Amino acid sequence: MVWGGCVWVLPPLSAGASGASLALDLGPGVIHLWRLCWSGVQLPVNWLSESERVYASQLRSWRRQREFCACRAAWRAVLARFYVPGGLSPAELALGTAAHGKPYLLNGCVSWNASHTKDWAVLAVTNAAYAIGCDVERLDRRIRAPEALAKRLGLMPSSDGVGAPANGSLSRQVLAYWSEREAVAKALGTGLGRLSTTWPRSLESLQIVTIPVVPDQVLATVASSDTWTVQRIETFALDHLTLNEWSSLGRARPPDVGQQLDAAVCTECE
Ligand SMILES: *[C@@H]1O[C@H](CO)[C@@H](O)[C@H](O)[C@H]1NC(C)=O
Ligand SMILES: *[C@@H]1O[C@H](CO)[C@@H](O)[C@H](O)[C@H]1NC(C)=O
Repeated sequence: MVWGGCVWVLPPLSAGASGASLALDLGPGVIHLWRLCWSGVQLPVNWLSESERVYASQLRSWRRQREFCACRAAWRAVLARFYVPGGLSPAELALGTAAHGKPYLLNGCVSWNASHTKDWAVLAVTNAAYAIGCDVERLDRRIRAPEALAKRLGLMPSSDGVGAPANGSLSRQVLAYWSEREAVAKALGTGLGRLSTTWPRSLESLQIVTIPVVPDQVLATVASSDTWTVQRIETFALDHLTLNEWSSLGRARPPDVGQQLDAAVCTECE
């Protein structure tokens, strides 16, 4: 499917007769960007670690709890399945925690970041040698006082000459710009607080790419660290990851995954 020049292709769906690993090859200069959707799907909480469940339970609203759990479960599933040689079940993925709460893999060798909004998430995966940050935003998100925020971000033509692009509503421009900043902050691991309004638009050490996740509805921004060249971006959808693939790993189904993954065909979202 070509959306805004961006082709989303399916991940390899079967391990072949030999039952070989489905681990994807991350060549140099490659970012895999996964588009994940869980609309109408309950991704199983038992894929999460104890500490992730405790963290989720401390989030204030049930909606945030649900989104956190779904996003975690989804990227756990993808990492365990496609980036650990031989494959693991999502719950088997062992994670450590670095500065700013950024998770890292104990039994694999990739660098990743994920972001979610409502029932969409984007997972960007690259070589362990590189830092990566990603952010996803819904373009229909309401922004209170977009003019004021645009000004604060230095987006108004008068402020620093960056100027707002002619096309699109101001809210959308603000969201797109905000998304860039979040992705950069996450790649740098600084947190948003460190980025003042003087943040330069062109950070030479970082490559920033904006990708339509759903055209005109959801966009993602990916920022990756220095000496990086994006040769290509491979994109996949979780939509088609069904239970059959889990059984092709020769593993027992987790008890309550059941139809949930079979139902993960993502028609509602598109
Ligand atoms: C704005 O962009 C859209 C596509 O993103 C295009 O179809 C439309 O013609 C553009 N409008 C203007 C005024 O440039
Ligand atoms: C993404 O990066 C931020 C900042 O480094 C970090 O706090 C967050 O935990 C990361 N998220 C994931 C899913 O890796």
